[in-house]
Amino acid sequence: MKRKIAIITGANRGIGFEIAKQLGKLGVTVIMTARKEDQGRATCDKLKKEGLDVHFHQLEMTNESSIHKLADDMQEQFGVVDILVNNAGINIDGNKDTTNIDLDTVRTTMETNVYGPLLLSQVLIPLMQSSADGRIVNVSSSMGALNEGMGGYGGNFAYSMSKTALNALTIKLAGDISSSRITVNSMCPGWVRTDMGTAAAPRSVEQGADTAVWLATGDVGMTGKFFRDREVISW
Ligand SMILES: NC(=O)c1ccc[n+]([C@@H]2O[C@H](COP(=O)([O-])OP(=O)(O)OC[C@H]3O[C@@H](n4cnc5c(N)ncnc54)[C@H](OP(=O)(O)O)[C@@H]3O)[C@@H](O)[C@H]2O)c1
Repeated sequence: MKRKIAIITGANRGIGFEIAKQLGKLGVTVIMTARKEDQGRATCDKLKKEGLDVHFHQLEMTNESSIHKLADDMQEQFGVVDILVNNAGINIDGNKDTTNIDLDTVRTTMETNVYGPLLLSQVLIPLMQSSADGRIVNVSSSMGALNEGMGGYGGNFAYSMSKTALNALTIKLAGDISSSRITVNSMCPGWVRTDMGTAAAPRSVEQGADTAVWLATGDVGMTGKFFRDREVISW
């Protein structure tokens, strides 16, 4: 059977690296993308040594040319994309809150966490139309969930707002391409031990990646939803 082709953003570390590894172990051909070429190639080589069919491609989520170049190269090399995991994300709010956050921080956060995934989805959808079962998975957070208080007050304004917007993008995009064979879902990995999540987090990267991998390959049958631990959650 033909191998599925998956693109993972921010695959050089953390949850993205683990998603790439788990998809590779399931027999998927994985395009591991990262903004830093040296780090991206090094982590890709690690998975190649484990015998996985992984490839590296540079991708900076805030750079439109970089996003278009990825799509052009995928068209030339594979002609189809089955899975897109919009995993790359930043939380650079620091100790600022809504009263004193600077607009550059908000803009950079939105560009990385929302506008990048939007443009990347737009340019890859034509390639995903050739897939029998296209899946777009947006790695979001319960900090974007309105009914969970967006992570509370006193910080994380830009980050929380970006994840609420990513969930909104998920619903709107899912609806706008509902006549296609592509589904679009978002998920919360929980609080995970990564550079972003810190060593204090209770979850391993394996646990954090699980729902994203399931949404990318499993028997899901839903679109436009937000998931945690393989269950739909309201937000
Ligand atoms: N860890 C948690 O507890 C947690 C909880 C909820 C949601 N999440 C979400 O899960 C996703 C992965 O988080 P993580 O914990 O694995 O974070 P992480 O360890 O900080 O990794 C973030 C990844 O995103 C990449 N990235 C950031 N900005 C980028 C840009 N402009 N262009 C391309 N790549 C960029 C980073 O690349 P560099 O190495 O070049 O910086 C890195 O590969 C994020 O969307 C995050 O919001 C995490």
